[in-house]
Amino acid sequence: MKDALAVIRERTSINHFDSSKQIHEAEIRAIVADATQAPSSYNIQHWRFVAVTDPERKKQLQAAAYNQAKVGQASATIIVLGDLRGYEKMHTILAPLVKAGTITQEAADSTAQRAAAPYMNNPQFQRDEAIRSGALAAMTFMIAAQARGYVTGPMIGFDPEQVKRIFGISDRYVPVMLITLGHTAPGNSPRKPRLGVDEVLAFNQGREF
Ligand SMILES: Cc1cc2nc3c(=O)[nH]c(=O)nc-3n(C[C@H](O)[C@H](O)[C@H](O)COP(=O)(O)O)c2cc1C
Repeated sequence: MKDALAVIRERTSINHFDSSKQIHEAEIRAIVADATQAPSSYNIQHWRFVAVTDPERKKQLQAAAYNQAKVGQASATIIVLGDLRGYEKMHTILAPLVKAGTITQEAADSTAQRAAAPYMNNPQFQRDEAIRSGALAAMTFMIAAQARGYVTGPMIGFDPEQVKRIFGISDRYVPVMLITLGHTAPGNSPRKPRLGVDEVLAFNQGREF
């Protein structure tokens, strides 16, 4: 496996994928297992993933993504979702800690209650957290995929309602982004420049950047 900083520096959004290459479900599972190591508020883990690998399904997804060809060419395209009611799983999430004796059942109940409180009657917060956690998992996914020898591309250029309809995704979930995943092909652009550190960083005080 590659050094983390090298992976960060070499990751780039890929436009042209080698459509002759497939990816095994086991590899997708491994990358998703990596992605789930991302942090989330109260460890709620709002992220969910739908991996689209079937050629017909990829075509349908491509159509919902304003026909961006890479969706069809990539070995898989992942629909990253955020669960608007992820807090409802807090008991399941805390159960292993109770079982191991790390925390008591009472402590778990109280943590679950505190974690859920800000979501109640607050759709803005539900959406913010679903997207925030989903985005952290998406980034972790892309870094992990790169480290494992794949290339990726994040995408927001798709119709979320169409994607939900085609793939049977309920209103409980908000599509966070798509991630194309696969092997590179000729014709991709070099990495893009970034703003300088002094243009994006301040110490101890905000400023007009
Ligand atoms: C949330 C998000 C949505 C994006 N959506 C698209 C997209 O729909 N189509 C596309 O070609 N690139 C998309 N990109 C890729 C960006 O253009 C790319 O990340 C940016 O130009 C920086 O290039 P790099 O990722 O190669 O460093 C998206 C990136 C992000 C983070």
